[in-house]
Amino acid sequence: MSAKPRLLVTRRLTEAVQARAARDYDATFNEADRVFSPTELIERCQEVDAVLPCHSEIFDASVIGALPERLKIIANHSVGVDHVDLAAASARGIVVTNTPDVLSDATAEIAILCMLGAARRASEGDRMVREGRWAHWSPSFMVGRQITGRRFGVVGLGRVGRVTALRARGFGMEVHYHNRRRLSPEQEMGAVFHETLEDLLGVSDVLSLHCPATPATTGMIDAAALARLPEGAILVNTARGNLVDEVALADALRSGHLFAAGLDVYRDEPGGNPALFELENVFLLPHIGSATGETRDAMGNRALHNLDAFFAGRAPADRVS
Ligand code: DGY
Repeated sequence: MSAKPRLLVTRRLTEAVQARAARDYDATFNEADRVFSPTELIERCQEVDAVLPCHSEIFDASVIGALPERLKIIANHSVGVDHVDLAAASARGIVVTNTPDVLSDATAEIAILCMLGAARRASEGDRMVREGRWAHWSPSFMVGRQITGRRFGVVGLGRVGRVTALRARGFGMEVHYHNRRRLSPEQEMGAVFHETLEDLLGVSDVLSLHCPATPATTGMIDAAALARLPEGAILVNTARGNLVDEVALADALRSGHLFAAGLDVYRDEPGGNPALFELENVFLLPHIGSATGETRDAMGNRALHNLDAFFAGRAPADRVS
């Protein structure tokens, strides 16, 4: 029997996933669940054939350049792959995979939570009650924004965007979207296509971001984009923090041009942006879009499925590079 491939699992995964990895691979785990520094990441990769990282491990060109010849696959436990320099991996002949589909429902739930939390001032209300400051009630108290029947703009009507749009429809929202290319009628599911982001912004009472972070999308929601949103709009971001210029966002929230924002992702993670913490009209979560037990199992299994295919000499289903 040939030796099992050596695998580094960079973060603690669910018990079921780690048990499967230990059964099928000569696997090393990170029980302390520490984030490895780039130097440590490189060191730990030296003796393995494969690595199963999360978005918390940055495989930039310098890390990829220092990986050993034997390491042939980066099987990500994430749908986003902006933490991996795909061109550098491809130049080294390293296969890169991700975990699409399995986190769409969980992430859509968080997008809807962010929308509702922002629209109905959930953080403000929660803090007030918890801190014993709820001393008053009147019909004009804590009045929020009703989203029922409003226009839901989606940037990136892909897997997560489509599920989120379906959920938004449950609130009677009218779905609009912008993608680089118009989708087929089945994929569009009645959503109104806008050829340009600018057009979409103009009609989005709620704008929800679901596109990947790439050089082309970084900073796409800047001051000019925010200014195009209707007065009193709500921004929801469950995709990646660097899609948004957070300075411009804080300004738009402060001025009242935006009613509120619901954010699960930030330019700096972990931690987030202190300039946003001071504002009442933001609903903030700590990058937990895919954080449910079912989804974590499914993501781990999907990453292992990709590894299994690769080491069996087949094409991994979720190869991105
Ligand atoms: C993803 O899968 O990209 C999520 O952001 C969690 O890593």
